[in-house]
Amino acid sequence: MHLGVDLGTTRTIVAAVDRGNYPVVTFLDDDGDAHESFPSVVALHGERLLYGFDAIAAGATGAPLLRSFKRALAEPDVNADTAIAVGDRTVPLLEILTGYLRAMHEALLTTSNLPGAGTGQADPDLLGPVVVAVPAHAHGAQRFLTLEAFRRAGFDVAALLNEPSAAGFEYTHRRGGTVTSRRTRVVVYDLGGGTFDASLVDVEGTGHDVLATAGRNRLGGDDFDDVLVRCALAAAEVEEADLDAWALASLREQCREAKERISPQSRRIALEVGERDVNVAVDAFYDAAAPLVEATMTAMGPVLDRLDDPTGLTDVAGIYLVGGGSSLPLVPRLLKERFGRRVHRSPHPSASTAIGLAIAADPASGYSLADRLSRGFGVFREQRSGQGVVFDPILTPDEILPTADTVVATRRYRAAHNIGWFRFVECAAVDDAGEPRGDIVPFAEVLFPFDPALRDRPDLGDEPVRRQDGCLVEERYVIDPNGIVEVHITDLDTGYELRRTIAGRAAPGAST
Ligand SMILES: Nc1ncnc2c1ncn2[C@@H]1O[C@H](COP(=O)(O)OP(=O)(O)OP(=O)(O)O)[C@@H](O)[C@H]1O
Ligand SMILES: [Mg+2]
Repeated sequence: MHLGVDLGTTRTIVAAVDRGNYPVVTFLDDDGDAHESFPSVVALHGERLLYGFDAIAAGATGAPLLRSFKRALAEPDVNADTAIAVGDRTVPLLEILTGYLRAMHEALLTTSNLPGAGTGQADPDLLGPVVVAVPAHAHGAQRFLTLEAFRRAGFDVAALLNEPSAAGFEYTHRRGGTVTSRRTRVVVYDLGGGTFDASLVDVEGTGHDVLATAGRNRLGGDDFDDVLVRCALAAAEVEEADLDAWALASLREQCREAKERISPQSRRIALEVGERDVNVAVDAFYDAAAPLVEATMTAMGPVLDRLDDPTGLTDVAGIYLVGGGSSLPLVPRLLKERFGRRVHRSPHPSASTAIGLAIAADPASGYSLADRLSRGFGVFREQRSGQGVVFDPILTPDEILPTADTVVATRRYRAAHNIGWFRFVECAAVDDAGEPRGDIVPFAEVLFPFDPALRDRPDLGDEPVRRQDGCLVEERYVIDPNGIVEVHITDLDTGYELRRTIAGRAAPGAST
């Protein structure tokens, strides 16, 4: 079964492909209750790391919890070994991400509502290719680590999209009628748990390109919870300092749950502050929270400025509200006051990205990425003895196809490891800093034994990669008239050579 997986800061949401429908997958928690998400939480329980619902259950008995680890991916100097603290232990970021995704993979097979799951024996073939996403402004290392963690966790990743492109897919799937030849732009307004992003997505047929993004890294649903906590404390005439840590945490939790239950008809919010029952008027909460919504509209400014007509919005098909935070009725209300009837709220704000990813994963949807395979192409390379990863853009999307086989790029260097591990990807664009931008499709991995002693090993993938001075290496990239790239990797000291056709997963048979 093909899936779309939206790895979120607060929770991960999975949507499945089911004959033209994209249902959100439910997971059972440790009490047997069903949830439409898998919490993005890690706990340290004795010596063991626990993830998702197990982590929440351990946290309830006092185990230290870590939330929002996805944020660490956005740091500019992030790498696989970035140290993350869980309780009194430090764990490499890639290990946390992989462990979390592996737990989610296991949950999909054993405790989800996917057909065939939970039958006692987990059948890994149940899960087909998945399409995943990163924030639109994600840099190369963030994209690489996300892909790598999904792969190590056992997922077959067909593509890595930008989150707003995925929400754009969901928009055109539902509201394709609003996109006309004159109105081809969709503004995706994504208010998540901890972050706000606005993106301008250009829709052309089945292609969705992110033209611009803007946002705030620390503005999301969590801030609305804080506002409600302050309203509750004021109603109880209690200072924050009067409550112990446990009472404050429980109030925050209540406020989040109460906020998520607010409907357009709600008038009062009942809460318990310490021992006291209080009522907060929804209008008072909305007055206090309105500046947060104003802040999102201010943050959208640079995106709207990219439009031909920022005030009249004449080239915009819709402003699409996604992300769990925009479920709060106040959000669409204030946006409609400002932007009028072009504001549309997703019927599933929390799941919009996951549903869009499932649409992209659906071979029958017509949104397949296969028609865009002739784009930029490059390789992720390890640097500083595996400490970091850099992207080497080999072909830019504007490369003109030759009429005969042509060498388009050559790289020559001295090997610094026993094995060369080449992870080729195809991407929509390469920016001025040489980072891959836009949607990414992973290609085959190629392993090359720099160490001559490894050249008769049947499975190089099992060999540990070690730092070791080695042969003089040449890579040559040959492109044919169909845009198929072949890489020739040669040990110039001995003449040992490997040739590999680099094809996307759309044509796995092309590998030689
Ligand atoms: N029905 C609801 N009403 C109001 N807020 C809601 C509702 N459902 C979820 N939320 C809020 O949405 C937020 C989580 O949003 P979402 O699931 O989109 O975030 P995320 O994808 O994990 O985070 P990010 O996009 O920042 O990585 C939380 O603050 C949550 O309280
Ligand atoms: Mg999100």
